[in-house]
Amino acid sequence: MELELILLAILAIISHANGAEYELVVVDEDIFSSCPDAGPGTLDIHGLFDMSEFSTSMDSDGVTVSGNTTMVWDIQVDDRVTLSINLLYLDRGTWKPTMFSLFSQDFCKAMYEKNQIWYKVWTQHISNDIKDKCLNNPGTKIILETYLVSLTTTIPGQFREGHYKYNIVFRAFDSSGAERPTRICYEILGDIFKVRRQ
Ligand SMILES: *[C@@H]1O[C@H](CO)[C@@H](O)[C@H](O)[C@H]1NC(C)=O
Repeated sequence: MELELILLAILAIISHANGAEYELVVVDEDIFSSCPDAGPGTLDIHGLFDMSEFSTSMDSDGVTVSGNTTMVWDIQVDDRVTLSINLLYLDRGTWKPTMFSLFSQDFCKAMYEKNQIWYKVWTQHISNDIKDKCLNNPGTKIILETYLVSLTTTIPGQFREGHYKYNIVFRAFDSSGAERPTRICYEILGDIFKVRRQ
């Protein structure tokens, strides 16, 4: 399997049995925060994209995004890009891990897989064809539809309501498997609400 999905099956079962559905509402209009305590060589969203043609606006439904982002990450066309996403929750002032954690060994191959969280909240809204470009072609524009960042139904499992954040890390490896000197780390903060119970 190209994609290694680390997500306990038991969570899906609990979620199904309980019928609960959760929504993570993005709370920061700027959407992307830098990672705290990031090590050397770690860049934030601006190391991945030129965001000067990207804009966001916030209202009671959440954050709406529009415009374009231009790739700026200095990696090579045939590099393999990995992606890890971890969901953390704020417990009495400390960020703690949740069971929601996933890892893609080869993001570029999986970027348009319809059941993936990044497809639902991001890549399905890209209106130009960047299948062969992925994130590896500095200068390439990613043209986005205008859309509301709604993360409803994208979070499997059982959650307590409260403050959460996604921690997102991209790393790139050359053909010999050596990691490139820079990696990307950013976070998206939000609040989780239960939206339906059966
Ligand atoms: C996004 O890119 C398209 C194509 O280059 C352009 O027509 C459009 O004006 C850009 N949008 C913004 C907000 O800059």
